[in-house]
Amino acid sequence: MPRDITLLWGLRSPCAFACRHCYFGTVEEHRANLPSLPGVLSHISRNDLPAEAMTAFARTLADSPVARVVIAGGEPLDWPGALDLIATIKSAGCEVVIATNGVPLTRPGIAERIVVLGVDGVSVSLDSADPATNDRLRPSRSGRFGHSDVLDGIRTLLRARGQQARPRVGIYTVVMRHGPHEITDVARLGADLGVDYYVPQPISLAPTHKLFTELTHTVADAGAVAEQLGRLADDPLGLAIPDQDYMRRFVAAISTHASGHVTDCFGGAQLFFIQPDGSLWDCPSDRRIAATAPSQRRTIAGADARTLFDGRPACTDCSHFSRDCVNMWPLALGMPRLLDPETA
Ligand SMILES: C[S@@+](CC[C@H](N)C(=O)[O-])C[C@H]1O[C@@H](n2cnc3c(N)ncnc32)[C@H](O)[C@@H]1O
Ligand code: SF4
Repeated sequence: MPRDITLLWGLRSPCAFACRHCYFGTVEEHRANLPSLPGVLSHISRNDLPAEAMTAFARTLADSPVARVVIAGGEPLDWPGALDLIATIKSAGCEVVIATNGVPLTRPGIAERIVVLGVDGVSVSLDSADPATNDRLRPSRSGRFGHSDVLDGIRTLLRARGQQARPRVGIYTVVMRHGPHEITDVARLGADLGVDYYVPQPISLAPTHKLFTELTHTVADAGAVAEQLGRLADDPLGLAIPDQDYMRRFVAAISTHASGHVTDCFGGAQLFFIQPDGSLWDCPSDRRIAATAPSQRRTIAGADARTLFDGRPACTDCSHFSRDCVNMWPLALGMPRLLDPETA
């Protein structure tokens, strides 16, 4: 059976950060009004899948069409069971990439264990090269952690890796309206730190989000973003970066708020999204999830990855192309380029 599926697995809902734009919303808002619609994420979750059910599913990944699992959250490395689960996924022969806010990498033993487990990539989120700006956008809930801890986490992991090939270490930056220059500024910082890859991603917020106007690009911002992406592509500073197709989609996506049509999408074909309660979706796009009929809803609870994806199409036509989708491109199609730049 060909292994060509990437799973984006949001392991757990909680997080010690309170990023203003987070897909999981804010604890404060959800304390007053916990969302209950399918696919709507919250750091307050009463329904995260029990660890045993996660392990049972992970054991079935061997001999399944799943090639790669991107571990996200919430903050996956804040959950004590994460590294054992990753060990199970690695034993099943899957590539593993961890998406983290970076702070857990500073805790004793975490970086070393990630190296020993043979994790293939670690993507650390950093939204500004400027400490104060980053910590305003990505504050920790306690106020005790921020930019310098994230940089410490990256350095700790690079040190633990030493001369070994894995994990490749990268930075993900959510590009917001205020700062197209962050695209090249964070690349410079990443190159100085010695990371291997770098992915700028467009901010994606629902039009009803209270920060939509402040943070979301308008068509008038597209030129400055395109210029910065062009500068990055011309001189990636030795970093592996997404390809030109991604850069084009980035600019196209921020140039409109309407949904676009994609004729050969990987969502529901080569990419699937597991949310912390175990729900399985074609992709994390809120538009596509909202358009999923109740009869098509699925879960990994009690499921077997060797049969769960039977009958999936080679690709799907989708009318919900948005900024969300751009963020999935590097996961679904671009990861080999980021993890093995010689394949670029
Ligand atoms: C939800 S986080 C989970 C993993 C981990 N806690 C972290 O921050 O990397 C995964 C990625 O989504 C990004 N992200 C969160 N909300 C976003 C939004 N509204 N638009 C675009 N990216 C977003 C984060 O910055 C991070 O790079
Ligand atoms: S660290 Fe990640 S999961 Fe936590 S609030 Fe920030 S973006 Fe969301």
